[in-house]
Amino acid sequence: MNNQNLLSISQNPSRSPTNQGIVLLSRRELDRMRRVGKLAANLLRHLEPMVQPGVSTQALNDEAERWTQAQGAISAPLGYAPDGHPPFPRSICTSVNEVVCHGIPSPKQILKDGDIINIDVTLILDGYHGDTSKTFLVGNPPTPAQKLVEVTQESMMRGINEVKPGARVGDIGAAIQTYAEANGFSVVREMVGHGVGRQFHMEPQIPHYGNRGAGLKLRPGMVFTIEPMLNEGHYGIKVLGDRWTVITKDKKRSAQFEHTVAVTETGVEIFTL
Ligand code: MF3
Ligand code: CO
Ligand code: CO
Repeated sequence: MNNQNLLSISQNPSRSPTNQGIVLLSRRELDRMRRVGKLAANLLRHLEPMVQPGVSTQALNDEAERWTQAQGAISAPLGYAPDGHPPFPRSICTSVNEVVCHGIPSPKQILKDGDIINIDVTLILDGYHGDTSKTFLVGNPPTPAQKLVEVTQESMMRGINEVKPGARVGDIGAAIQTYAEANGFSVVREMVGHGVGRQFHMEPQIPHYGNRGAGLKLRPGMVFTIEPMLNEGHYGIKVLGDRWTVITKDKKRSAQFEHTVAVTETGVEIFTL
């Protein structure tokens, strides 16, 4: 979610700017997050074999919507309209090559050999949200594109491995940024991970860059996403005229992976495996 927009939808002036607005989920709520997280992960797995040259991003969207309804769940993106955005017109985000995130599926967009595509799904089941994404290879992308995708996934896992009670939000960002930059990639600054639960986007924000030891202290029951976007070139981004699609300023490739995770008594649980 966009940093500024996240602030504008979640900031409550009657609360202090830090620590407030962060909810700790009960055991019963964590059970629901587990169920919707697994369902969202299964949707990505269901769509994966469709990711082939010649398929349109609209076809991926339509199958996602059909499958989601068949499971008795709801597609959270469809009609989602945070401040400053028109309602999102589709059920999933499909972000190809230089599209960083929030790409809008279209019948005119046909995947071709050598593309990379992030599919980002968010489901609602029993009032709780599960948010996950993966970047897939279409056919056989060039080695640098494959490396970008591998490094992005590993950077997410390194961020997740920092999560435990007492650790800081900055530890997550530092682990991601260090690994990304050591491999020659940059980390998008303006889009961050987010608390998730009854609402799609909640406090806290989880930047994918930062300093070890800095930021909010993690506590058991916190639930949030970790969703780094790594660029081949500069981290600068811009938003297209549709007010959703985010692309790299330099038009080089970007990749993203996302899991919804909880801080447990001893470490971390990934809901979207
Ligand atoms: N799933 C995205 C995220 O990870 C948000 C998409 S908002 C939408 O935060 F409206 F574009 F779907
Ligand atoms: Co998210
Ligand atoms: Co997402």
